This record gives sequence, structure tokens and C-alpha cells, in this order.
Amino acid sequence: MSEINNFGIIGRSHGIQQMLLTIHQVAPTDISVLVFGESGTGKELVAKAIHEQSVRKDKPLIVVNCGAIPEGILESELFGHEKGSFTGAVGARKGYFELAHNGTVFLDEIGEMPLSTQVKLLRVLENGDFMRVGGSSLQKVNVRVIAATNKDLERAVANEEFREDLFYRLNAIHIKIPPLRERRDDIPLLIHKIESEFAKENRIEFGGFSETAMNILVNHNWRGNVRELKNTVESMIVLEKGRVIDEFTLSNYIKPPHSADRNLPVPTNRSSDQVEREFIYRALIDLKSEIGKLREDIYQTVYRPSGATKSLPVFSEVFHEEDKRMMVDNLEEELVDLEGMKLIDVERRMINQALENNNGSKRKAAKKLGISERTLYRKIKEYDLPF
Ligand SMILES: Nc1ncnc2c1ncn2[C@@H]1O[C@H](COP(=O)(O)OP(=O)(O)OP(=O)(O)O)[C@@H](O)[C@H]1O
Ligand SMILES: [Mg+2]
Repeated sequence: MSEINNFGIIGRSHGIQQMLLTIHQVAPTDISVLVFGESGTGKELVAKAIHEQSVRKDKPLIVVNCGAIPEGILESELFGHEKGSFTGAVGARKGYFELAHNGTVFLDEIGEMPLSTQVKLLRVLENGDFMRVGGSSLQKVNVRVIAATNKDLERAVANEEFREDLFYRLNAIHIKIPPLRERRDDIPLLIHKIESEFAKENRIEFGGFSETAMNILVNHNWRGNVRELKNTVESMIVLEKGRVIDEFTLSNYIKPPHSADRNLPVPTNRSSDQVEREFIYRALIDLKSEIGKLREDIYQTVYRPSGATKSLPVFSEVFHEEDKRMMVDNLEEELVDLEGMKLIDVERRMINQALENNNGSKRKAAKKLGISERTLYRKIKEYDLPF
């Protein structure tokens, strides 16, 4: 099966091929699907693939992280509320289920859903209707539900934290994504994809891995699964620009299991300039990953679940609709700006900022940046900064 048809899901292992087959089989139907997998295994990717291959693909896919929304408001986020139904409910509002009409709702971390909300969810699954919080009339919707968890739901059922009837209803079709350590065959393919996408996007030359390094990568534990693999490979692409990565270099990035030391050891065979530069890049990589997380948070808790229209529910009742939209749009613009910048531009901006914040004091700015004054002078000249 080609990658195009698989919506970016890479893997030739038996586990992934089986999973793709199930996705292809269930996607065109309206059946709810429960996706199991450790963190970073691709649960959201699977939900998107199912939605994209269904007749609902042109309708919204609304992603709701049940674990990220405070228990007290999850129900009104999902099912909406009527005016005055609780303090702060100044107007009636649609919930995600109404907004996803004819589309799909992806309920991530379903194991975190409170029992009272589970009752309402079960009813939507069975009858396709529900009442808004504080409402008295039934709302009818046509929504497909995909749920995901990394919890053992059977145990949650045994502990009476998850409703048994809801579990059986959701579990009728389930997809279990194997952790990366159980499908090591996929690692070289994933690395190849990450490499080619990231290096191309950032216009960085990448020297690849030695055979021994590749073996280590394939045999590593990857507790954070594909997400961890992705972050690690992307860091290496940036920091080891153009060099072939051997096992010695690799040992700076992946640690034996249970190692407490998460800092990069300083490689001794490099000039201090190179080392300083690498620390800057490390900060930039962290920044990029923070941006990613921030965007996810904004999307999930405040504003726009992917694929949905503009008139969407919002997280807080404190601000006016217009103000909220403007605030989030501004934030989003800044994120796009930051994300789209080349690393070199980010470096220039960071240095400029540090100098401005320290009233042009090179000693203080260098200290703040964690580089030597000598390197700072050279960079000011290189970037033609007005200091
Ligand atoms: N089989 C795969 N092929 C290609 N990319 C993948 C695959 N699995 C995961 N990824 C990538 O790994 C990252 C993590 O995936 P995703 O967010 O779907 O994981 P998750 O299971 O939802 O994680 P979490 O439990 O932490 O929410 C994403 O960038 C995703 O594109
Ligand atoms: Mg997820």
C-alpha cells in the first residue's frame, strides 16, 4: 500500500500493515472505533486517517483531549449549554458534537472522561441525541466517534472508573497500535521519512547514519515511540549538519534506559565555537517543540479543532467572542511567523533580543545566551546588528 493512501502512516511491520487494513475496512462505515496505544505511537494520526478515508472527509474532524479539559466543563464543551445554565453561561452555545454534525469527533484520552459525561456519550452513540447542559429539548446529531486511550480500560472498568456498557460499545472495533520497540522493522523507514521531510523543510544537508549507528537506533527502547524518534532525529539533523552520524556522536543523543542525565555531554573533539553554536541550536529545537505544543494546546482548549469552521466554541466565558477570536488569531500569526523562520533567522533574532534586553551590554547578553563574548562579537558582525 502506498504512503499516499495511508495518510502518512509509515510502517511495513505486520502490526502496522494489519492496522492499515483495519483502517481501510472501517473508515467508510459509521462504526465507532477505539484506538489503543502508548504515548507517541500515532493515535491521532490514525484518527485522522480514518476520517480522511470516510465519506465525512469534507466535514469537520473535531479533536477533543478529554484529559486537558477540566472535568467541570467537559460536558458543556462536548454538548453545549443553554443561556444561564451555570454561572458565566451568558449565552447559549453549541458543543463539539453539534459542530461536528456529519463529521467526526475524536475523543482523545477517553479514559479521563468523568462517569457522568460517559452516560451522555453512550446515549449519543446509541440514539444520536443528547441535551445541552441546562437544556430541555433533544438535539439530534449525526457524528462518528473515534476514541483513543493509553490506559487499560478493562482495568478502569473493573475499578468502576469507566462504564462497562460504554466500553463494550466503543470496543467493538478496536485498533491497537504496537509500541515502536515491538516493530523495529519500521524504524529505518520512519527515520528516512523524518530525515527527508525535515531536512527539506529546513534546507539543511544531512549526512545520514553509519551502519552501527543505525543498528543502535533500531535497537533502542524508544519509550516515547515515534514522537521521541522524530524529536531525536530532527535534533541530530540540525546539530550535526552534513556530518555522517556514527555511534560516538549518537551516544550524545540517546541514552541507555533509565539514565537520569538528560543533558547533552559536550563533545570534546570540537572547537568551543562549534559547541556554543550547538547549544544555541539545541535551544532553538526546544523552542520549535514548545511552539508545537503551544499550538496543540490552543487548538484543543481554546479555539479551533482542525477541520472545523470559524464560528466555534471557546474555552472561557470571560472575554467577548470577537476579542477571543482576535487574541487567538494574533497568537496563531506569531506562531506561524516563528515556525516559518529559518534557524539562522531565529538565532539572529535571539541575539538581537538579548542585546536589547541588556541595554547593549555584550558581557550580559553573552552570559544570558550562554556563549562567549568573543562569539557574540563575531555574530554581531556577521549579522550586521546595530550594537
Ligand atoms: N506510523 C507512523 N508513520 C509516520 N509518522 C508517525 C507514525 N506514528 C506516529 N507518527 C508521528 O509521530 C508523532 C506523534 O503521533 P501522534 O500525535 O499521532 O501520537 P499519539 O499516540 O496521539 O501521542 P499522545 O498519546 O502523546 O497524544 C506525530 O508527529 C506523528 O505524525
Ligand atoms: Mg495524541
